[in-house]
Amino acid sequence: MPLRQHGRKARFIMSVKIIGTGSALPKLQVTNADLEKLVDTSDEWIRERTGIRGRHISTGETLVSLTAQACAGALENAGRAASEVELLLVATCSPERGIPCAACQVQSVLGAQKAVAFDLNAACAGFLFALNTAYAYVEAGIYRNALVAGGEVLSKIVDWTDRGTCVLFGDGAGAVMVEKCDKGGLLGFVQHSDGRKGEVLRCDSRELKNPYVSLPMEAPYVQMDGREVFAFAVRRVPESILEVLEQTHTDIEEVDLFLLHQANRRIIEGIAKRLSVDISRFPTNLDRVGNMSSAAIPVLLDELNRQGRLRPGMKLVLSGFGAGLTYGAGVMEWQ
Ligand code: ACO
Repeated sequence: MPLRQHGRKARFIMSVKIIGTGSALPKLQVTNADLEKLVDTSDEWIRERTGIRGRHISTGETLVSLTAQACAGALENAGRAASEVELLLVATCSPERGIPCAACQVQSVLGAQKAVAFDLNAACAGFLFALNTAYAYVEAGIYRNALVAGGEVLSKIVDWTDRGTCVLFGDGAGAVMVEKCDKGGLLGFVQHSDGRKGEVLRCDSRELKNPYVSLPMEAPYVQMDGREVFAFAVRRVPESILEVLEQTHTDIEEVDLFLLHQANRRIIEGIAKRLSVDISRFPTNLDRVGNMSSAAIPVLLDELNRQGRLRPGMKLVLSGFGAGLTYGAGVMEWQ
């Protein structure tokens, strides 16, 4: 069993691995041609600028129903029962309710009564931050396992008259089940936040209105400076990937696949170029599902898992980035 030095005390360290994945998408598929009927846009513009051809949009599916479905899939894939789950984390920036948190609602649907459940919002880096949180809890021995989900119904916070944003996003949820293992699994994470740049991608939640004041909401729907977000992602994501590779003593050539937040094909191409890594090692699904914020990485992971494209021993890099601004990366050995 590996020994790791923490301060002056050495202690035995277990590893944490993903043992199951799941995902769920709304039934309705909306193509770029469909959006041409709503706003002044074209299939050609959307494809060339973003790589997106379609996305799934809720016609009644909720964040809780999609996330619970994804979690049920991860449990089934892992061969575990909901009653065994000890920690349930939901990363989301589009919950149905302020209270109770989405994780408690998902817990109720699943019947995961033993689980401690709470939400985490780090926008498009949310799933990565939640996975690192679960890793810390499980690796520290506080919980034996965790169900970690990223879910979004962004269609309710997008301005459907704004062609600059409504063409980019989709709804969906993904989840993974993690538990302790002897070696391999999750190898390390880096996380960063830069609140100074928060204004470039924002969505206000509720106006301040009480008997003493009534302040109108400035941005009730998603507002984005696309160019700023683009420049931030292409600069900061490669830095964080190199940082986590160094931290985990992983050579970039050892990495089989880079699973990045699925925001824009051109962002992913820019990151691959900066890292001098062939684009074939960056699997994508954004052409079919658009940008699903915190759901993007776990849905992609589940698709690859169910397609049999993840083999034991493969090294994967995950990287999320988005509003906050937040960004980070993790390295894992698939088992
Ligand atoms: N259809 C047609 N024309 C459009 C559309 C559209 N859907 N949207 C914008 N345009 C127009 C603009 O009005 C502008 O027209 P103008 O020159 O007459 O003023 C022109 O296209 C260029 O607009 P830009 O915003 O400069 O276009 P750009 O090449 O930067 O592409 C895009 C915009 C796709 C949003 C790009 O900036 C981008 O991908 N940024 C990153 C956004 C992103 O990924 N955000 C999410 C990441 S974080 C998270 O996931 C929450």
